[in-house]
Amino acid sequence: MNIRAIVLAAGQSVRFKTKKTKLLFDVCGRPMILHPLMVLQELGLPVSLVLSNKTSAVKDIVSELGLPQLAYVDQSEQLGTGHAVQCSRATWDQDNVLILYGDMPLVTKELLLDMQQKHAEQDADVTFLSTYANNPHGYGRVIELEAGYKIVEEKDCNEQERAVELVNAGIYLIKRSFLEEYIDSLDANNASQEFYLTDLVGKAAAQDKKTQMIKVAYDDVRGVNTLKQLWEVEQIKRARIIHHWMREGVRFEFAQTTHVDCDVEIGADTVIGAGVQLLGKTIIGQECQIKQYSVVENSKLADGARVLAHSVVNNSRVGSNTVIGPFAHLNTNATIGRDSHIGNFVEVKNSTVGYHSKAKHLTYLGNARLGDHVNVGAGTITCNYDGISKHETVIKDNVFVGSNSTIIAPVHIEKDAYVAAGSTINRNVPEKSLAIARERQTNKPGYAEKLRQGKAPDTSGSSSDTENTYSFKGAVKTDTECKQNV
Ligand code: UD1
Ligand code: CA
Repeated sequence: MNIRAIVLAAGQSVRFKTKKTKLLFDVCGRPMILHPLMVLQELGLPVSLVLSNKTSAVKDIVSELGLPQLAYVDQSEQLGTGHAVQCSRATWDQDNVLILYGDMPLVTKELLLDMQQKHAEQDADVTFLSTYANNPHGYGRVIELEAGYKIVEEKDCNEQERAVELVNAGIYLIKRSFLEEYIDSLDANNASQEFYLTDLVGKAAAQDKKTQMIKVAYDDVRGVNTLKQLWEVEQIKRARIIHHWMREGVRFEFAQTTHVDCDVEIGADTVIGAGVQLLGKTIIGQECQIKQYSVVENSKLADGARVLAHSVVNNSRVGSNTVIGPFAHLNTNATIGRDSHIGNFVEVKNSTVGYHSKAKHLTYLGNARLGDHVNVGAGTITCNYDGISKHETVIKDNVFVGSNSTIIAPVHIEKDAYVAAGSTINRNVPEKSLAIARERQTNKPGYAEKLRQGKAPDTSGSSSDTENTYSFKGAVKTDTECKQNV
């Protein structure tokens, strides 16, 4: 059967009460409008997308899909769903027209395939989907007639009609010949003064045309008119995604608190903890662990990688068996090799780290290139920014950086070198050498005792720096100072 799909997306999103069109709000990481469009793409159907100046921003994201026979239709005035279809007339190039609304992100390929098959089998003029809504508010009610059906919009319902729970889902497969004959006969004599597409169903009954209604599950055809409905729909989508990965061998420890976007991929034997969010185009290998409350976005984790609790991994790559966290931040563009460990309160940004390397505590690595078997001590900072531009730090294989070192870029620390703890490194360190860049320590024998006895000479104000005049004023408070402070 040859079919062209018409997707209606010109409406104003009045009930959303937001500046942005509802069609661009994400459902599991994908703008709402892309959900039906990607199903149509999978079915290989040519698509006409009806937009208005209020929804033209949709074009930017739709063009990235590269739909093969996409036609944009402009509905400059939003006079109703029937009028929107009328506007698309020039694009009706197939014998059947599948019409659906852009605000139905849960629609599935299987549902549309089944509809196509039944439409063909019955040789129907009009096939439409209906469903039982738990709360039919906002939906058109389907009224069964002696021959066929009619759809009454809520605003036009009498009391009896309003009580009907069978509602119009908003997906229609119609013979082009029928559309051509009746689309211009729609009128706007109703409570909304709009041209209702739904009136075509009643016209088919009046004209004794063959109409087929297919009842489908409500969850497949929920419409999104409010932010509450968006939230409801996203819960369903999220559950479907998680169920899919469960079937693929992924363990979710606390699934009801976990979020996984549409485009995420997860390998078997991976364990996902409570409150984890896997976002964007994240790819997680097999036998990985993502522990509780971590967020992984647009990142790639190789097999066996572990992201421990409360870590954030953003636009980064993690090698196999590498451990990130707890409380680590792979900021943007961090690449960590295999068998390495980026530990707590460590941020890595625009940097690469080789294999078997470690930065386990309280460190910032920015614009840095670290080799293999590098050990970065606690509290190390690469100073990559001079207030104007960013500079690179290169730390080669087997380097040991002592704790609390400040490494001022641009600088190279060559292979097998050592940096003494507490150093401020601003010059290159040659291979196999030890760099010490800190104030030499001075020990004053017996001085501590003198301090305790209050016998230490107070020489503040003196510029001299000899053994005898070394001052510790401030380190120990005298009785009078303490009283003044209180
Ligand atoms: C519509 C149906 C209703 C059905 C429900 C299912 C009509 C008259 N009513 O109501 O029977 O139960 O969907 O969810 O069709 N649009 C345009 N141009 C317009 C008006 C709307 O392109 O002039 C687009 C909107 O962007 C939206 C879709 O058509 O994507 C549906 O419009 P909406 O206002 O949401 O219709 P409902 O009130 O939900
Ligand atoms: Ca709607």
